[in-house]
Amino acid sequence: PSLSSATSDGFLQCLWENIPSGLIYTQGAINFTDVLVSSIRNPRLFTNTTVRPLVIVTPTDVSHVQAAVRCGRANGVHLRVRSGGHDYEGLSYRSVRADEVFGVVDLANLRSITVSADAAAGPMSTAWVDSGATLGELYYKIAKNNPEVAFSAGICPTIGVGGHFSGGGIGMMMRRFGLSIDNVIDASLVNADGDLLNRATMGEDLFWAIRGGGGESFGIVVSWKVSLVKVPSTVTAFNIVRSVDQGAIDVLSKWQDVGPTLPNDITIRVIVQGQQATFQSLYLGRCSDLVPVLSTFFPELGMTSGDCLEMTWLQSAVFFNTWNLNVPVESLLSRGTSLSTFTKNKSDYVRRAIPKEAWKSIFPWLTMNGAGMIILEPHGGFIGAVPAGATPYPHRSGVLYNIQYIALWPTGSDGSAATRWISNLYEFMGQYVSKNPREAYVNYRDLDIGQNVVVDDITTFDSGEVWGDKYFAGNFRRLAAVKAAVDPTDFFRNEQSIPPQSMAT
Ligand code: FDA
Repeated sequence: PSLSSATSDGFLQCLWENIPSGLIYTQGAINFTDVLVSSIRNPRLFTNTTVRPLVIVTPTDVSHVQAAVRCGRANGVHLRVRSGGHDYEGLSYRSVRADEVFGVVDLANLRSITVSADAAAGPMSTAWVDSGATLGELYYKIAKNNPEVAFSAGICPTIGVGGHFSGGGIGMMMRRFGLSIDNVIDASLVNADGDLLNRATMGEDLFWAIRGGGGESFGIVVSWKVSLVKVPSTVTAFNIVRSVDQGAIDVLSKWQDVGPTLPNDITIRVIVQGQQATFQSLYLGRCSDLVPVLSTFFPELGMTSGDCLEMTWLQSAVFFNTWNLNVPVESLLSRGTSLSTFTKNKSDYVRRAIPKEAWKSIFPWLTMNGAGMIILEPHGGFIGAVPAGATPYPHRSGVLYNIQYIALWPTGSDGSAATRWISNLYEFMGQYVSKNPREAYVNYRDLDIGQNVVVDDITTFDSGEVWGDKYFAGNFRRLAAVKAAVDPTDFFRNEQSIPPQSMAT
């Protein structure tokens, strides 16, 4: 709902009284646009008509986060929280509703990473990482401390820890060590009353919900305590490209069975673009051990020692992002983003292998006008062994792989062919992917699958269930009950936040 200017004036006044003015950027401020755009990746979500926040606050201390929440609450102004700004629909900094007045709490300044002293000694160590840190900063800090210690999370190094951990965190080591959320052991969170809680004081229901229930809904997570994992000093990566003419369809068909069942320390994901499939792999070990395993389990790939690239785990984090071995590991510390490419993303999960004949009809989609790419991420292993209700991420046992559809178009060009392509392909794929619900990954946010309706200032359960069932399946009801217990007035909300509904109703 729109607010009277008196209300928003009261909110701003409260911020100025409680937070250093240098950390507050109102719409009229000279630096407002620079701060707003600082972590935006997708120009689709930054146009002349994009609904902007009334104010952006950039806390340098947890007390500023608490003050912002209390000021918002007291004046009826909702807040959106931004960590790395990579949300595929921009929900951390824009609203879909033209009349919404809201503030943004941008955590980019809260990004310290403290690796426990025993991490230098080896495994079983931990780290506290603030939400405003990026994955690249986390990887770098851990590995510089000890190159045989790492963390399981996503591929793009500029992703923010805050949003990523809130939704799951899938990456090249999840078959061995699980999602990021499977390795979170404590957190500090500012709730809708502005109180600062940790695992012990928030309780296990709320601690369960923030590990995968999607960002925004339950409060502002300021920091996360994670278990680090042990990796060998040398790992092996490869990129093997097969065109349709070289039998890509046969290899891909076989991959559907092999990818999710290989030993857990091998991950092979597939990127399909044009008439080519790129099989991209991380093995937590040496080339000489990998070659015999793949020639036994996956001879169709034709992998040989000539495909192997041996490197440190930290270098592999750079390699999977850049496909280039010459980029220095310090590049992981860069927070810079570019606004050159528009994107639209959607996702699916596959529980039954797609028949080879069907792949023959899928490949032509990749050369149509407006075609982008699809990425297939194998599950199974550790990630598949976690019970579906252990965290809100329900896509566990029985999932073969996740599909991400990506439409791209350059700035200045007309995106209608690309957006038509992605929605038509998604419709076509419905016959081959999981059903009832048709599952989707909350971190690949997609507003086409449903958006909240707010009635009497509270998000309705029914509107949330439409998309919530796809992201969370049987865990959605429990998420709604946690929301009802911790934020019954629905202060933390966006177009896909969890609606409050207690189990009894
Ligand atoms: P952003 O700041 O936009 O936040 C995302 C959502 O979480 C918003 O709703 C926001 O309000 C909320 N939120 C943010 N910080 C919060 C906090 N501290 N407390 C509570 N709520 C908070 N995913 C993946 O699993 N594996 C991968 O390999 C990739 N790769 C990838 C590449 C690229 C180029 C992009 C753009 C995205 C991905 N992703 C991904 C998806 C990514 O994990 C997802 O977009 C994350 O939510 C991004 O987190 P940010 O903090 O950057 O986003």
